Formats: sequence, structure tokens, C-alpha cells
Amino acid sequence: MKIQPTARLLVIDDEANILRFLTRALEKRGYEVHPVMESQEALEKLTVIQPDLVITDLVMPDMSGIELLKRIKAYNPEINVVVITAHASLDTAISAIRGGASDYLVKPFQIEELCSVVKRSLSSKRIIYGEGGNDVFEKRYDFRNLIGTSQKMKEIHALIQRVAANDATVLITGESGTGKELVARSIHYNSKRRAKPFVSINCAALPENLMESELFGHEKGSFTGATSTKMGLLELAHEGTFLFDEIAEIPLQVQAKLLRVLQEKELRHVGGLRDIKVDVRLVAATSKDLRSQVQKGLFREDLFYRLNVVPIHLPPLRERREDIPLLIAHFLEYYSQKHNLKTIMRIEEAAVKHMTEVSDWPGNIRELENAVERAILFSDNGVIQEDQILKVASEHSRETPGSVLPSNGSRNLKTETEGFEKRLIENVLKETSGNKFRAARRLQISRQSLQYKIKKYQLE
Ligand SMILES: Nc1ncnc2c1ncn2[C@@H]1O[C@H](COP(=O)(O)OP(=O)(O)OP(=O)(O)O)[C@@H](O)[C@H]1O
Ligand SMILES: [Mg+2]
Repeated sequence: MKIQPTARLLVIDDEANILRFLTRALEKRGYEVHPVMESQEALEKLTVIQPDLVITDLVMPDMSGIELLKRIKAYNPEINVVVITAHASLDTAISAIRGGASDYLVKPFQIEELCSVVKRSLSSKRIIYGEGGNDVFEKRYDFRNLIGTSQKMKEIHALIQRVAANDATVLITGESGTGKELVARSIHYNSKRRAKPFVSINCAALPENLMESELFGHEKGSFTGATSTKMGLLELAHEGTFLFDEIAEIPLQVQAKLLRVLQEKELRHVGGLRDIKVDVRLVAATSKDLRSQVQKGLFREDLFYRLNVVPIHLPPLRERREDIPLLIAHFLEYYSQKHNLKTIMRIEEAAVKHMTEVSDWPGNIRELENAVERAILFSDNGVIQEDQILKVASEHSRETPGSVLPSNGSRNLKTETEGFEKRLIENVLKETSGNKFRAARRLQISRQSLQYKIKKYQLE
């Protein structure tokens, strides 16, 4: 059976009537619609739903549509966003387009208008729906974009090319920020599956009770709230590639079902009786040591061996320092263009030397990337100087508890620790562009407790 994926739409409007109207209209046309009323909730649902398109009202009480748009784009620039605006605020619609929205609708609009905007926006997102390939994506995830000429990176390039040619399951390991997701995408976009979907889920972000039905789909009435039969993400990735990010976080019960997908290439909806054939290449990524998870009884040994067919380990940046100057050059070019500089920002020799020889980059390439972008934004004479880099680096070391000293001789432990906690969370949120899933993971706390602290310190 050939499965036609339906597009997933995340629709946000604080007015219940409009939201209901939009949801019905779009569902009738066969889209999978996830309606939410608040921007905050929308942001939290992004990773879980992985929408193909977001439709949002521009005026909302908890966060402006423009701000929401910015955060969605920061989370994943590939997600298309359509904004809905009242006639009076056409100016805002224009700034939304400048901010990266793919289209806008002016209220009141006809259903047909809505549908044609949705169709157009979806067809510009060809990763999932295109028949041919998508040049932009293929270029972007060309393995040559994985910068590095060190011996280790050369081996990784060769490995990617080799596995891209077959369907073997790949297990990518490495510290945070070493490029695991980039490698997974490169494999997909260099394989014969490139015109088919690349679907990924972050197992750490998906609540346990939702994971099964998200992955395998469910039948109508199989549990409270299952009002219609729904396809799972694995089915959606049919003939494509599926990335299990943070695979170590999958609960044991789901592991058993996943094993079946790997062995039999079939699955069953939650509450379903029929076996459904799926053809997906699985790629898993983790920053944990899966072998020790197996020893602790937290990860099934049989599943581990099934996944670990081709292991790809990404070394931390400090173990391949020779690649740092190349990476700096790459990000200088990328962010100079992104921030519309007339020429590519230059950097002092001493700054490069410091970054290459002294900095340890515990956050690996992501941290280096952030440092370069920040330095570009703060440079006022077109050249990044060593002291700027030192400043970025010292901001970073201030985030490590060992180096905090009370600023004014205060001895109040509570005030001082809270002050530190606030700064640390603020910094991490900045580094993750406000992405709470990643921030929570980096801080190694739950999303709920991060949310609580954000409220407490008024960091919204
Ligand atoms: N070799 C590389 N060349 C250029 N950019 C890279 C390379 N490796 C990683 N990056 C960039 O660094 C950032 C982090 O990469 P990625 O998200 O793939 O890491 P990750 O290992 O999945 O991190 P995490 O464990 O935190 O999820 C991304 O912006 C990515 O594009
Ligand atoms: Mg990742």
C-alpha cells in the first residue's frame, strides 16, 4: 500500500470561534490540523507535531504574532508560517513577510483564499511533498557542508557517503552540538530517499503518554481524546528517513514496538488490528552512552544491536582543533550574509588563534557558531578582535558555577544563587534562541521546571 502523507498544520488563534472555523475548513480538505489558542502552547507543540505549516493570528494576548514568527523561525527556519491580519494592520503583515512569513491573509477572507494560500505555502516546502529533489536543501545538507578536513572528519565524510548509498540503520553519537542532526540530514539528502520525507522526533521532548500514538498512530476511540483515526509519524516517513533524536529517552515499552518496526517493517496503530507496512530508513542519535544504558537495564540490548549497525561517532571539537579556523571562516561568511553585511566580516589573527588553541568549546560547534554570530553583531569596525572573543568566552565561563563570585560582597546565599540561576538560564535561552526544549536539556532540568523558573525570574 502506498501511503500519501497528509500535511500537518499548526493553527493558532486566540478567538475560539475563528479557530474552530479554520480547523473545520482545513480538516475538510484533508489536512491534519492542530489547533491551539496560545502562542506559548504553540511553541511547546512545535517539536512534538513537527508541522509543515503554521498559520497564526498576528494579534494575540500572550505574544505578538511577529514575536511568535521569530521564535518559530529560530527553532526551525524550514517551517513556513502564514499570518492572519486585520485590514487595519497591513503594515504588520508586511513586516511579517520581512520577518520570514511565507504569506499572509487579510481578515475577512474566503475559505478558498485560505486554501490557496495554504497550498502555495506547502508547495514551496518541497522536502516532504516534492516529487523531485529540492536544490536548496540538497545543497544545504550536501555532506561537503559538514565542514572539516581533519582525519576524523574525512572518515565521517566517507562513512556518510557509504551509508547514504544503502538503507542500513545508523546510530550517531556525540556530545551536544557536535553535528548529529546535521549528519542525519546529510545522510538523507545524499540518499536515494532524498525526495521523500525526512521526519525527526526528539524523544526527550515528547511526553511518554503521547509517544506511542505519535509514532505509530491510533484508531478512532482507542483512548479518550482519540476522536479520529490518525497516522503516526513513522507512516508519514514512508519511503523516507526517520531520525530518532535522543533515542536513549525512549521508554522501554515503546522500545519493544520499535524493534518490531525494525525487524518486520510493519506497525500497528494504537488500538488497531491491522498490520501496516512501512519502509523507512532509521537513524538514531544520542549524546548518552547507550551501552551503559543497556547495562543499567534502561535500554533493550536487542534494540541497541539493531540500531548500532553503522555507528558514527562525532568527536568533540576540542579533539579536532585543526578544523576550527575553517569553521570560523564558514560561519563568518554565513552570518555576514544572514545579517546583510556588505562584505564578509574579517577577524583578527589573534582571535582565531585564541579560539583555536585556547577555548575548549564544551558546547562544540553550536557554541562556536554562536560565538561567531555574536561577535559579528557586536563588532563596530568590521573586524572581530581578540578581546571581543575573550569577552564572549568569559561570558561563557561565568556560566560555570566554579567561577561565580558575589559581585558586592553579599553573603546572602539565596539571593546570590538565585541571581546566578537567573543569569545562567538567561544565557542558555539566548544561546538556544529561546528554544525551551534545548535549553532545558542543556541545563539538565525538566521542561516544566524550566518553565517555572522562567516565570519566576520573568524571563519571557
Ligand atoms: N561539521 C560542521 N560544519 C558546519 N556546521 C556544523 C557542523 N557540525 C555542526 N554544525 C552546526 O552546528 C550546530 C549544531 O549541530 P547539530 O544540531 O547537528 O548538533 P547536535 O549534535 O544534534 O546537537 P544536540 O545534541 O545539542 O542536539 C548546527 O547549527 C549545525 O549546522
Ligand atoms: Mg540534535
